[in-house]
Amino acid sequence: MAKKKIVVLSGAGISAESGIATFRDANGLWEGHDVMEVASPEGWRKNPELVLDFYNQRRKNAHLAQPNRGHEILAELEQDFDVTVVTQNVDDLHERGGSNKVMHLHGKLFESRSSVDENLIYPITGWELKLGDTCEKGSQLRPNIVWFGEAVPMIEKAMEEALQADAFIVVGTSLVVYPAAGLVSYVPKLSPIYVVDVKLPEMPSRRDLHLIEEKASTGLAKVAEMLKRRFLE
Ligand code: APR
Repeated sequence: MAKKKIVVLSGAGISAESGIATFRDANGLWEGHDVMEVASPEGWRKNPELVLDFYNQRRKNAHLAQPNRGHEILAELEQDFDVTVVTQNVDDLHERGGSNKVMHLHGKLFESRSSVDENLIYPITGWELKLGDTCEKGSQLRPNIVWFGEAVPMIEKAMEEALQADAFIVVGTSLVVYPAAGLVSYVPKLSPIYVVDVKLPEMPSRRDLHLIEEKASTGLAKVAEMLKRRFLE
């Protein structure tokens, strides 16, 4: 029998237990920085050094962090289910936690790309991306991150995934940034949605909604049990 399809939408909250700051919590990343200065094309044009400093610091933090139990539980679900993790996160903790199908809606800290050709992507070998690091076309390399105001190339593929979900998990996201947050409305009406968060986000009302107000590692353990009871027994 084909494995049931589980689609996960994760946000910064799943990496919180790994010591990586979220964005909108108290002392979150956006509290200390102006989004438009460090994560937008305008900021990049105005002051690329500032953008690269912010980005290199985040890369270093993410590189030193370890996946937590929440990441591992999602990876273990692959034993019994066909799991796709659609993440808003740019760290590689889902991959390092063992998940094999991860879609990064907002890009990846561990890759750089040409600033003139978005198909020219390069893994970052050293610690830092510096001014003067150029692509094969001679243009400055930039972080392979989707900045505010830029398109989200993966969103159509992510919508297709959500449309086929037998169950959908929302974990560690405030659901305030679109189009990512809009994925919830693509989940088939008869498929259950499980929401795990320490402070539950606003959810559109729907029949089969399970709200688990716990930190990611605890809440995802409960969701894994609920999925096994529902689909495997
Ligand atoms: N366990 C579970 N949830 C947690 C935990 C935890 N330990 N700690 C925090 N959270 C929750 C918060 O309650 C909040 O709902 O994680 C969510 C974090 O929300 P945001 O900081 O807004 O992060 P996110 O939703 O991922 O932001 C989306 O916004 O700035 C852009 O591109 C950036 O991808 C990011 C997008």
